[in-house]
Amino acid sequence: MSNPSLLILPGDGIGPEVMAEVRKVIDWYGDKRGLKFDVSEDLVGGCAYDKHGTPLHDDTMAKAQEVDAVLLGAVGGPKYDNLDFSVKPERGLLRLRKEMDLFSNLRPAQCFDALADFSSLKKDVVAGLDIMIIRELTSGVYFGEPRGIIKDGNERVGINTQRYTESEIARVARSAFELAKKRGNKVCSMEKANVMESGILWRDVVQEIHDAEYPEVELSHMYADAGAMQLTRWPKQFDVIVTDNLFGDLLSDLAAMLTGSLGMLPSASLGLPMANGRPKALYEPVHGSAPDIAGTGKANPIACILSFAMALRYSFDEGAEADRLEQAVNAVLAKGLRTADLLGEEGVQPVSTAEMGDAIVVALEESL
Ligand code: IPM
Ligand code: MG
Repeated sequence: MSNPSLLILPGDGIGPEVMAEVRKVIDWYGDKRGLKFDVSEDLVGGCAYDKHGTPLHDDTMAKAQEVDAVLLGAVGGPKYDNLDFSVKPERGLLRLRKEMDLFSNLRPAQCFDALADFSSLKKDVVAGLDIMIIRELTSGVYFGEPRGIIKDGNERVGINTQRYTESEIARVARSAFELAKKRGNKVCSMEKANVMESGILWRDVVQEIHDAEYPEVELSHMYADAGAMQLTRWPKQFDVIVTDNLFGDLLSDLAAMLTGSLGMLPSASLGLPMANGRPKALYEPVHGSAPDIAGTGKANPIACILSFAMALRYSFDEGAEADRLEQAVNAVLAKGLRTADLLGEEGVQPVSTAEMGDAIVVALEESL
């Protein structure tokens, strides 16, 4: 049987630097655990625009459809701010999500013990935090039609449309209930049913799927604004949160920051099963391309490395190896290693992106 295939899209800014550290981890798994991958690399975002005049070449899109999993770094940067909307780096990422139909975006917010002091919240509010936000990723106001900027009389009008079909809500709800069964068995669904019809439908469909298929899972509903408040007040009340594309974008940044550093958090975007049974999948850090520190060796590679751990778990059924990698990250943090984003403790010298990657590989080695 051939090796599983991985397409690596490092992207822009710190993307290539953090992805170089992931490559070390991938190589380690090939050498030491017999987990060999056929790895290919390509362009997405601003770098793809520079070369091809588009943030995602059709050939790259076609490759992404064929591989077992895509690993993405980050896209965007100030250099591309003035490009036409249709060729902005972000459009490359959105095209991947849409055409691969990656409707279920898993964004864990986990507080690493060694980092509980970094949160802007009190330590007891965040220590031990482990929640999962499931964001619908292929519909809603990000993609709804009509959209655009039109002329109405003598002024311009900006239009976007929030649109959800029952089946779009049902499939992401199912993925939330399935995941909750493997965790704390609790789902909180967030929308704005008090002001939006799409929110009313969202709440109804989530409840229907629950009652018909997952009555054993504890389900609650919350308005998304109240959800934001509750997330900062007492985040440990949540296990799995399921929400739409735009609310999920906002709430996942909020949840990420609860844990102290955006540089720590991975994500998985999953679609329907392919012929080989694996879901269509793209893994990427929650953080962006951080152009201000690109090339300085300051970037934290942990979010991207943990995204590979999610790939091991969700695409390759290697949960124990994913645990091993997460524990290696924990071990390195427990030893006191910190990239520049994690400074705060007195007298701690930051390590570089590469030093952090190397230390994680050493910790993997020590786990054998
Ligand atoms: C994210 C990002 C993206 C989004 C951008 C880069 C298009 O903020 O993945 O959360 O808005 O979805
Ligand atoms: Mg975002």
